[in-house]
Amino acid sequence: MEQFTTIAEQRAWSRAHQREGKTIAFVPTMGALHAGHLSLIAQAKAAADVVVASIFVNPTQFDNPEDLAAYPRALPADLAMLTAAGVDAVYLPTVGEMYPDGYCTFIEMVGPLTDKLCAVARPGHFRGVCTVVAKLFGAVTPDIAIFGEKDLQQVLIISRMAADLNLPVEVRVGATLRDPDGMAMSSRNARLSPASREKALGLPRGLELANQAFKEGERTGMKLIEIVAGELLVHEGVELDYCDLVKLAGFKEIEHADDACVLAAAVFVDGVRLIDHVHLGSESLPVVIE
Ligand code: PAF
Repeated sequence: MEQFTTIAEQRAWSRAHQREGKTIAFVPTMGALHAGHLSLIAQAKAAADVVVASIFVNPTQFDNPEDLAAYPRALPADLAMLTAAGVDAVYLPTVGEMYPDGYCTFIEMVGPLTDKLCAVARPGHFRGVCTVVAKLFGAVTPDIAIFGEKDLQQVLIISRMAADLNLPVEVRVGATLRDPDGMAMSSRNARLSPASREKALGLPRGLELANQAFKEGERTGMKLIEIVAGELLVHEGVELDYCDLVKLAGFKEIEHADDACVLAAAVFVDGVRLIDHVHLGSESLPVVIE
Protein backbone atom coordinates (compact mmCIF):
# COMPACT_ATOMS: atom_id res chain seq x y z
CA MET A 1 0.00 0.00 0.00
CA GLU A 2 1.39 3.38 -1.01
CA GLN A 3 1.36 6.18 1.59
CA PHE A 4 1.23 9.87 0.73
CA THR A 5 1.30 12.89 2.96
CA THR A 6 1.20 15.69 0.39
CA ILE A 7 -1.57 16.79 -1.96
CA ALA A 8 0.89 16.79 -4.87
CA GLU A 9 1.96 13.15 -4.31
CA GLN A 10 -1.58 11.91 -3.87
CA ARG A 11 -2.84 13.81 -6.92
CA ALA A 12 0.05 12.57 -9.09
CA TRP A 13 -0.68 8.95 -8.09
CA SER A 14 -4.40 9.38 -8.81
CA ARG A 15 -3.76 11.09 -12.15
CA ALA A 16 -1.35 8.34 -13.23
CA HIS A 17 -4.00 5.69 -12.53
CA GLN A 18 -6.76 7.67 -14.21
CA ARG A 19 -4.56 8.22 -17.29
CA GLU A 20 -4.32 4.42 -17.53
CA GLY A 21 -8.13 4.34 -17.59
CA LYS A 22 -8.50 3.11 -14.00
CA THR A 23 -11.35 4.22 -11.77
CA ILE A 24 -10.73 5.28 -8.16
CA ALA A 25 -13.02 4.67 -5.20
CA PHE A 26 -12.27 6.68 -2.08
CA VAL A 27 -13.09 6.07 1.57
CA PRO A 28 -12.32 9.14 3.72
CA THR A 29 -11.86 8.42 7.43
CA MET A 30 -10.58 9.98 10.62
CA GLY A 31 -8.84 6.72 11.58
CA ALA A 32 -9.40 4.46 14.63
CA LEU A 33 -10.75 2.05 12.05
CA HIS A 34 -13.23 -0.73 12.75
CA ALA A 35 -15.20 -3.32 10.78
CA GLY A 36 -17.63 -0.63 9.61
CA HIS A 37 -14.79 1.13 7.77
CA LEU A 38 -13.62 -2.20 6.34
CA SER A 39 -17.07 -2.82 4.90
CA LEU A 40 -16.84 0.56 3.13
CA ILE A 41 -13.42 -0.49 1.79
CA ALA A 42 -14.91 -3.79 0.56
CA GLN A 43 -17.68 -1.82 -1.16
CA ALA A 44 -15.04 0.46 -2.69
CA LYS A 45 -13.02 -2.49 -3.99
CA ALA A 46 -16.09 -3.90 -5.68
CA ALA A 47 -16.91 -0.51 -7.23
CA ALA A 48 -13.63 0.61 -8.82
CA ASP A 49 -10.22 -0.52 -10.10
CA VAL A 50 -8.21 1.03 -7.26
CA VAL A 51 -9.06 2.15 -3.73
CA VAL A 52 -7.73 5.09 -1.76
CA ALA A 53 -8.47 5.65 1.93
CA SER A 54 -7.57 8.76 3.87
CA ILE A 55 -6.89 9.21 7.56
CA PHE A 56 -7.10 12.77 8.79
CA VAL A 57 -8.55 13.95 12.10
CA ASN A 58 -9.95 17.18 10.75
CA PRO A 59 -9.68 19.98 13.34
CA THR A 60 -12.17 22.27 11.57
CA GLN A 61 -15.11 19.91 12.17
CA PHE A 62 -14.69 19.84 15.96
CA ASP A 63 -16.60 22.51 17.83
CA ASN A 64 -14.92 21.47 21.06
CA PRO A 65 -11.09 21.32 21.46
CA GLU A 66 -11.39 18.66 24.21
CA ASP A 67 -13.36 16.43 21.85
CA LEU A 68 -10.66 16.87 19.20
CA ALA A 69 -7.89 16.03 21.69
CA ALA A 70 -9.78 12.95 22.93
CA TYR A 71 -10.65 11.63 19.46
CA PRO A 72 -9.15 8.11 19.27
CA ARG A 73 -5.97 7.75 17.20
CA ALA A 74 -4.50 4.39 16.20
CA LEU A 75 -2.33 4.92 13.12
CA PRO A 76 -0.15 1.74 13.18
CA ALA A 77 -3.19 -0.52 13.64
CA ASP A 78 -5.12 1.47 11.00
CA LEU A 79 -2.33 1.04 8.43
CA ALA A 80 -2.17 -2.69 9.13
CA MET A 81 -5.94 -2.98 8.64
CA LEU A 82 -5.92 -1.01 5.39
CA THR A 83 -3.02 -3.07 4.04
CA ALA A 84 -4.79 -6.33 4.93
CA ALA A 85 -7.99 -5.02 3.32
CA GLY A 86 -6.13 -4.50 0.03
CA VAL A 87 -6.26 -0.69 -0.11
CA ASP A 88 -3.97 0.60 -2.85
CA ALA A 89 -3.04 3.96 -1.35
CA VAL A 90 -3.61 5.83 1.87
CA TYR A 91 -3.57 9.59 2.04
CA LEU A 92 -2.31 10.90 5.40
CA PRO A 93 -2.09 14.68 5.16
CA THR A 94 -0.86 16.78 8.05
CA VAL A 95 -2.90 19.67 9.44
CA GLY A 96 -0.34 22.05 7.88
CA GLU A 97 -0.78 20.44 4.46
CA MET A 98 -4.55 20.79 4.62
CA TYR A 99 -4.72 24.19 6.30
CA PRO A 100 -1.46 26.08 5.67
CA ASP A 101 -0.86 29.53 7.15
CA GLY A 102 -3.20 32.02 5.54
CA TYR A 103 -5.89 29.41 4.82
CA CYS A 104 -9.26 31.17 4.66
CA THR A 105 -11.79 29.33 2.46
CA PHE A 106 -14.68 27.30 3.91
CA ILE A 107 -17.79 25.71 2.44
CA GLU A 108 -20.99 26.62 4.23
CA MET A 109 -24.22 24.87 3.31
CA VAL A 110 -27.54 26.57 4.04
CA GLY A 111 -31.03 25.09 4.04
CA PRO A 112 -32.87 22.15 5.56
CA LEU A 113 -29.90 19.76 5.71
CA THR A 114 -27.94 22.10 7.97
CA ASP A 115 -30.57 23.64 10.24
CA LYS A 116 -31.27 20.70 12.54
CA LEU A 117 -29.85 17.65 14.36
CA CYS A 118 -26.03 17.64 14.46
CA ALA A 119 -25.83 20.96 12.59
CA VAL A 120 -27.51 22.71 15.53
CA ALA A 121 -25.94 20.57 18.24
CA ARG A 122 -22.41 21.08 16.83
CA PRO A 123 -22.17 24.58 15.32
CA GLY A 124 -19.62 24.72 12.51
CA HIS A 125 -19.31 20.95 12.32
CA PHE A 126 -20.66 20.53 8.79
CA ARG A 127 -18.80 23.61 7.57
CA GLY A 128 -15.62 21.76 8.58
CA VAL A 129 -16.84 18.46 7.09
CA CYS A 130 -17.82 20.01 3.75
CA THR A 131 -14.56 21.93 3.55
CA VAL A 132 -12.32 18.97 4.34
CA VAL A 133 -14.22 16.55 2.12
CA ALA A 134 -14.06 18.95 -0.84
CA LYS A 135 -10.32 19.35 -0.21
CA LEU A 136 -9.83 15.58 0.05
CA PHE A 137 -11.73 15.16 -3.22
CA GLY A 138 -9.38 17.73 -4.75
CA ALA A 139 -6.33 15.72 -3.73
CA VAL A 140 -7.63 12.21 -4.44
CA THR A 141 -9.82 13.06 -7.50
CA PRO A 142 -12.00 9.96 -6.93
CA ASP A 143 -14.65 8.72 -9.33
CA ILE A 144 -16.66 7.30 -6.40
CA ALA A 145 -16.59 8.22 -2.70
CA ILE A 146 -18.21 6.08 -0.01
CA PHE A 147 -19.51 7.26 3.38
CA GLY A 148 -21.17 5.32 6.19
CA GLU A 149 -24.92 5.58 6.69
CA LYS A 150 -24.49 5.88 10.46
CA ASP A 151 -23.63 9.53 9.81
CA LEU A 152 -26.82 9.97 7.80
CA GLN A 153 -26.95 13.75 7.89
CA GLN A 154 -23.28 13.90 6.86
CA VAL A 155 -23.73 11.69 3.81
CA LEU A 156 -26.83 13.62 2.71
CA ILE A 157 -24.92 16.89 3.06
CA ILE A 158 -21.86 15.62 1.16
CA SER A 159 -24.03 14.26 -1.58
CA ARG A 160 -25.83 17.60 -1.88
CA MET A 161 -22.52 19.50 -1.82
CA ALA A 162 -21.11 17.34 -4.63
CA ALA A 163 -24.22 17.98 -6.71
CA ASP A 164 -24.38 21.71 -5.94
CA LEU A 165 -20.69 22.30 -6.68
CA ASN A 166 -20.67 20.00 -9.74
CA LEU A 167 -17.89 17.91 -8.21
CA PRO A 168 -17.09 15.05 -10.59
CA VAL A 169 -17.58 12.32 -8.01
CA GLU A 170 -20.38 9.87 -7.29
CA VAL A 171 -21.22 9.80 -3.58
CA ARG A 172 -22.36 6.39 -2.31
CA VAL A 173 -23.60 5.16 1.07
CA GLY A 174 -22.43 2.06 2.96
CA ALA A 175 -24.70 0.33 5.48
CA THR A 176 -24.23 0.83 9.23
CA LEU A 177 -22.58 -2.17 10.84
CA ARG A 178 -23.56 -3.14 14.37
CA ASP A 179 -21.88 -5.18 17.06
CA PRO A 180 -23.84 -8.22 18.25
CA ASP A 181 -25.19 -6.14 21.19
CA GLY A 182 -26.76 -3.67 18.71
CA MET A 183 -24.31 -0.77 19.06
CA ALA A 184 -23.60 0.96 15.77
CA MET A 185 -19.87 0.69 15.09
CA SER A 186 -18.11 3.99 15.66
CA SER A 187 -14.53 5.04 16.35
CA ARG A 188 -15.86 6.84 19.41
CA ASN A 189 -17.01 3.54 20.97
CA ALA A 190 -13.34 2.92 21.82
CA ARG A 191 -13.68 5.68 24.45
CA LEU A 192 -16.49 3.90 26.32
CA SER A 193 -15.67 1.93 29.47
CA PRO A 194 -17.64 -1.34 29.83
CA ALA A 195 -20.02 0.46 32.24
CA SER A 196 -20.48 3.39 29.84
CA ARG A 197 -21.12 1.01 26.97
CA GLU A 198 -23.91 -0.65 28.99
CA LYS A 199 -25.55 2.75 29.37
CA ALA A 200 -24.94 3.61 25.69
CA LEU A 201 -26.81 0.48 24.61
CA GLY A 202 -29.97 2.37 25.57
CA LEU A 203 -29.53 4.27 22.29
CA PRO A 204 -29.93 1.41 19.78
CA ARG A 205 -32.39 -0.30 22.16
CA GLY A 206 -34.53 2.84 22.46
CA LEU A 207 -34.52 3.36 18.69
CA GLU A 208 -35.49 -0.23 18.06
CA LEU A 209 -38.26 -0.07 20.69
CA ALA A 210 -39.56 3.11 19.05
CA ASN A 211 -39.48 1.29 15.72
CA GLN A 212 -41.50 -1.57 17.24
CA ALA A 213 -44.01 0.94 18.58
CA PHE A 214 -44.22 2.52 15.11
CA LYS A 215 -44.88 -0.90 13.58
CA GLU A 216 -47.64 -1.41 16.15
CA GLY A 217 -49.27 1.84 15.07
CA GLU A 218 -47.72 4.60 17.18
CA ARG A 219 -47.33 7.70 15.00
CA THR A 220 -46.95 10.54 17.52
CA GLY A 221 -43.42 11.88 17.34
CA MET A 222 -43.28 12.90 21.03
CA LYS A 223 -44.29 9.37 22.11
CA LEU A 224 -41.59 7.79 19.92
CA ILE A 225 -39.01 10.24 21.26
CA GLU A 226 -40.09 9.49 24.84
CA ILE A 227 -39.42 5.79 24.21
CA VAL A 228 -35.83 6.57 23.22
CA ALA A 229 -35.35 9.00 26.11
CA GLY A 230 -36.80 6.43 28.52
CA GLU A 231 -34.08 3.91 27.64
CA LEU A 232 -31.31 6.46 28.15
CA LEU A 233 -32.19 8.93 30.85
CA VAL A 234 -32.53 6.27 33.54
CA HIS A 235 -28.73 6.28 33.82
CA GLU A 236 -26.49 8.79 35.53
CA GLY A 237 -23.98 10.44 33.18
CA VAL A 238 -26.30 10.20 30.18
CA GLU A 239 -27.54 13.33 28.45
CA LEU A 240 -29.76 13.39 25.38
CA ASP A 241 -28.35 15.95 22.93
CA TYR A 242 -31.31 15.60 20.57
CA CYS A 243 -33.86 13.10 19.41
CA ASP A 244 -35.90 14.14 16.38
CA LEU A 245 -38.23 12.72 13.82
CA VAL A 246 -37.25 13.74 10.29
CA LYS A 247 -38.93 13.10 6.97
CA LEU A 248 -36.28 12.13 4.46
CA ALA A 249 -37.98 13.92 1.57
CA GLY A 250 -37.01 17.54 2.13
CA PHE A 251 -35.24 16.64 5.41
CA LYS A 252 -38.06 18.24 7.44
CA GLU A 253 -38.74 17.82 11.15
CA ILE A 254 -42.19 16.30 11.58
CA GLU A 255 -44.53 15.68 14.50
CA HIS A 256 -46.29 12.63 13.10
CA ALA A 257 -44.34 9.68 11.74
CA ASP A 258 -44.95 8.13 8.36
CA ASP A 259 -43.19 5.49 6.31
CA ALA A 260 -40.32 7.47 4.88
CA CYS A 261 -38.95 8.99 8.05
CA VAL A 262 -36.06 8.57 10.39
CA LEU A 263 -35.83 8.84 14.15
CA ALA A 264 -32.35 10.23 14.86
CA ALA A 265 -30.65 10.82 18.20
CA ALA A 266 -27.39 12.03 19.66
CA VAL A 267 -26.42 11.27 23.21
CA PHE A 268 -23.56 12.00 25.59
CA VAL A 269 -22.61 8.98 27.66
CA ASP A 270 -20.07 9.83 30.33
CA GLY A 271 -18.83 12.62 28.07
CA VAL A 272 -18.64 10.56 24.85
CA ARG A 273 -20.96 11.74 22.08
CA LEU A 274 -22.70 9.02 20.08
CA ILE A 275 -25.24 9.22 17.27
CA ASP A 276 -27.61 6.68 15.77
CA HIS A 277 -30.91 6.56 13.90
CA VAL A 278 -33.54 4.15 12.69
CA HIS A 279 -35.64 4.15 9.54
CA LEU A 280 -39.10 3.71 11.00
CA GLY A 281 -40.93 0.72 9.65
CA SER A 282 -37.85 -1.17 8.51
CA GLU A 283 -37.74 -4.76 9.74
CA SER A 284 -34.74 -4.37 12.02
CA LEU A 285 -31.71 -2.21 12.60
CA PRO A 286 -29.63 -2.47 9.40
CA VAL A 287 -26.81 -5.01 8.93
CA VAL A 288 -25.53 -6.87 11.99
CA ILE A 289 -22.20 -8.69 11.97
CA GLU A 290 -21.11 -11.35 14.43
O1 PAF B 1 -17.01 10.62 8.95
C1 PAF B 1 -15.82 10.98 9.11
O2 PAF B 1 -14.97 10.18 9.53
C2 PAF B 1 -15.44 12.41 8.82
O3 PAF B 1 -16.46 13.29 9.11
C3 PAF B 1 -14.92 12.60 7.38
C4 PAF B 1 -16.01 12.35 6.36
C5 PAF B 1 -13.73 11.70 7.11
C6 PAF B 1 -14.47 14.06 7.19
O4 PAF B 1 -13.46 14.40 8.09
